[in-house]
Amino acid sequence: MSNIISISDLHLSFGGRKILDGINLQVSRGESLVIIGESGSGKSVLTKIIIGLMSPDLGTIKINIPGNNKVLNFGVLFQNSALFDSITVWENISFNFKKRLNVSEKEAKKLAIDKLNMVRLSRDTADMFPLELSGGMKKRVALARAIAHSPQMIILDEPTSGLDPIVTDLISDIIIKLSNELNPTIITITHDIHSAFRIANKIAVLYHGKILFCGTVEEIKKTNNNYIKCLIKHAV
Ligand SMILES: Nc1ncnc2c1ncn2[C@@H]1O[C@H](COP(=O)(O)OP(=O)(O)O)[C@@H](O)[C@H]1O
Ligand SMILES: [Mg+2]
Repeated sequence: MSNIISISDLHLSFGGRKILDGINLQVSRGESLVIIGESGSGKSVLTKIIIGLMSPDLGTIKINIPGNNKVLNFGVLFQNSALFDSITVWENISFNFKKRLNVSEKEAKKLAIDKLNMVRLSRDTADMFPLELSGGMKKRVALARAIAHSPQMIILDEPTSGLDPIVTDLISDIIIKLSNELNPTIITITHDIHSAFRIANKIAVLYHGKILFCGTVEEIKKTNNNYIKCLIKHAV
């Protein structure tokens, strides 16, 4: 597998406070990478740098886009869901594919409802506005939006936080299915180690601004590092 993302010696500080302190990380095409680490360790910031929303102080990110495409087609679920408040749920979901597919309003809504069903939300949700949704529903709409246009790369920032165990399992199932069927590159940030172990080909641990560990689920389960043992102990 070739690398779709190569990150070398990435540094970022905020107000003199070092957040990323020399990140090196390779992500292979089609891989499902899970990033774990304490709150505030810089996981969200790292993914924002990958998609170009933030710039590092130092270091390089190489994105190797497959095929003849000049632009990386990606979908993002932000930690706070970040839905557009002034448009309906189905319009949020169809945002990325409506123009691209050049479909009618009716067809776009139908496709959006299919995606809603995928995340186990009913068609009644389609005409609601984000402010009318619970936190868990927002997450699911944000997931539907992130995957609606079948992107080459998907970034999911805490897709299951605040969700009940049944919906958490459902979201993990969706990620696994997506990974098997469409083979996108997926980067997921999660605190849910059970979910991480289910969805990951590879797990990276962010600690003190560096990648402390990067390896398979089997490898992380065998680690001798006490900090990592502590981080994953609830799932082993
Ligand atoms: N735009 C910003 N300006 C200043 N500080 C920020 C900004 N974004 C994040 N931070 C700080 O960077 C650190 C890492 O944040 P974040 O990546 O969100 O952590 P997490 O690992 O929980 O996702 C935190 O201390 C946060 O307060
Ligand atoms: Mg975060």
